[in-house]
Amino acid sequence: MKLSVIGCGYLGAVHAAAMASIGHEVVGIDVDQRKIDALSKGEAPFFEPGLPEILSEGVASGRLRFTTDMAEAKGAKVHFIGVGTPQQKDGYGADLTYVNAAIDGLLPYLSEGDIVAGKSTVPVGTAAELTPRVEATGATLVWNPEFLREGWAVQDTIDPDRLVLGVSSRFARSTTEGGDAGSTTEGGDGHSTTGEEVDVVAVMKEVYAPPVAKGTPFIVTDLATAELVKVSANAFLATKISFINAMAEIAEVVGADVTQLADAIGHDARIGRKFLGAGIGFGGGCLPKDIRAFAARAEELGRGESVGFLRQMDEINMRRRDRAVQLVVDGLGGSVFKKNVTVLGAAFKPHSDDIRDSPALDVAVRLHGLGAWVTVTDPEAIANAQAKHPQLNYVEDRDEALRAADAVVVVTEWDEYRRQMSPEHVSTLTDGRVIVDGRNCLDAAAWRAAGWTYYGMGRP
Ligand code: UDX
Repeated sequence: MKLSVIGCGYLGAVHAAAMASIGHEVVGIDVDQRKIDALSKGEAPFFEPGLPEILSEGVASGRLRFTTDMAEAKGAKVHFIGVGTPQQKDGYGADLTYVNAAIDGLLPYLSEGDIVAGKSTVPVGTAAELTPRVEATGATLVWNPEFLREGWAVQDTIDPDRLVLGVSSRFARSTTEGGDAGSTTEGGDGHSTTGEEVDVVAVMKEVYAPPVAKGTPFIVTDLATAELVKVSANAFLATKISFINAMAEIAEVVGADVTQLADAIGHDARIGRKFLGAGIGFGGGCLPKDIRAFAARAEELGRGESVGFLRQMDEINMRRRDRAVQLVVDGLGGSVFKKNVTVLGAAFKPHSDDIRDSPALDVAVRLHGLGAWVTVTDPEAIANAQAKHPQLNYVEDRDEALRAADAVVVVTEWDEYRRQMSPEHVSTLTDGRVIVDGRNCLDAAAWRAAGWTYYGMGRP
């Protein structure tokens, strides 16, 4: 099928390449010429495992191309909107400038029967607001939220755990179907007798034919529900992380171990161990801004109190960064002034070079602000970190970065630090013996046995 993808950031670039890899003919469109130049050469403009391979394959096959010219969207059957929705500069709501610009730019090139599929994370109600503009062209607007995790984005796009499709309420059918729920896929070319609404669902099932064929849940909802699914999923994940971090705060007072606590409650299948990793908390381009935008939208709807807890989750999350900084200060005897502090990690999580709202980098910047000489290393994120915070010292080589450190802080749990860094080896690089484990990812006993003072988050 011919597809266009408007916006070639983390979401759009991966979506475009993934759609080409499953056989579609895809044009990716973005206003950023440098991004388009890189993508056109089959180069990923950011670090994402598996993306360079499917990009270069797609470009070489001729099924995948990139342009800044919106006119090239013409002729595609489905147009995906994958632009960013950052936090507003003067508030907590989502800034919809790019969504509006994408829709406005696309309108002249839409044809009768086209589908515009929103993937961006938007405040509930956005799709309903955009619908009249899209429908005036004879096209249909659907909302098809994306749940991909950075670091696993390719796999999450090609083989998602569920597909959600919001359609206009006048033909919404509240159904959850296994992928092969056959009847709606027949006649998906527009000659079906089952009507317009089924066509839209059938076309979208054809787009996602491989996951649909293997029985991936395909949930058809109204537009508002689809929008809410996305923000509530992220709100739940953020809440899970902040819940365990709240337990870490209690554990710190009584000398309990939050990692054992998480293991123990995680065995309850209703709770589950995933996303109970206590540490310096969540960051990145999604969870922080999405919970804020959700709270702001709920306020607008007169239901601020319903998600008032999200503000507390946000506060717990931010407090954990303070805690990590405090542990370094304590570990160095009350002051970090003129002390060498090596910060291991800058990305907001491993397998990513993304530093948007990175708790790791925030801890580094705060330590610098307290007068420490901060050296930062990261396997992938140094270039991004350096561009944003040039005041810090960046060193590519981990061991070089560790040399002469008075204190070491692990803030991103890359394997390079978690598995491939023995305390005995680090002891040969520095006389410092203070380690703060901001991700509770190290073997505390091993570090202590090697003569280090180990501080975890919510651990004795
Ligand atoms: C998230 C959602 O998981 C994804 O479904 C959505 O589409 C986009 O937002 P992502 O931002 O890639 O994905 O990161 P995620 O893996 O969710 O991690 C978010 C943050 O939480 C990271 O900073 C991570 O370090 C932190 N985290 C995660 C914890 O602090 N503890 C945990 O147990 C898990």
